Amino acid sequence: MSQGTGWVLASNNPHKVKEIGRILAPHGISLRPLREFPDVEDPPETGSTFEANALQKARFVFQATGLPCIADDSGLEVDALNGAPGVHSKRYTPQATAQANNTKLLGALDGVSERGARFVCALAVVTAAGEEVWRGTCEGSIATAPAGTHGFGYDPLFLPTEIPGKCMAELAPSDKDRIGHRGQALERLPEALNRLKA
Ligand code: IMP
Repeated sequence: MSQGTGWVLASNNPHKVKEIGRILAPHGISLRPLREFPDVEDPPETGSTFEANALQKARFVFQATGLPCIADDSGLEVDALNGAPGVHSKRYTPQATAQANNTKLLGALDGVSERGARFVCALAVVTAAGEEVWRGTCEGSIATAPAGTHGFGYDPLFLPTEIPGKCMAELAPSDKDRIGHRGQALERLPEALNRLKA
């Protein structure tokens, strides 16, 4: 059965659908979230890197729908923890809540002075013309106590290097978009879509 036309975003996260849709609208591309395809299962996410996971999701949805597809995968890498929580950022604790994850992270870094870290967002595009994957990053360090109420996840503990003295959760959303890992990765999306127009 034909799935129609358009680009599919391999996510149902309304925040991502809105953010990516806003960037692509001037390019005449509208995105269809995965929930428009009830027959398509949730894509697997079993890779050991952000890039592998983003590509896995995009390939899976492209194969299932036959439509060009965009997928992302993101998380936090902490140097002193050898890159953890990394691709397990969402499920760093069994509860998988921001509060439990942040408490565990603070505990893991108790007494550690080397607190360098980065947020990473990998974006993948898969179409009949080929595939591309790349990452956007935001360098920073982990605070010793949470601050701020904006954003989500690890934002209250992340001190971006570009805006000294403030946690990500203390920034206006427009500032987070500008310096953040997702914004950095999304900047390269329109040109990739042009190259991969099927
Ligand atoms: P996903 O890309 O929605 O799978 O995000 C994976 C996890 O990484 C989230 O649940 C958060 O814990 C963390 N994460 C990803 N992006 C951000 C961010 O912008 N701020 C804070 N935490 C993030």
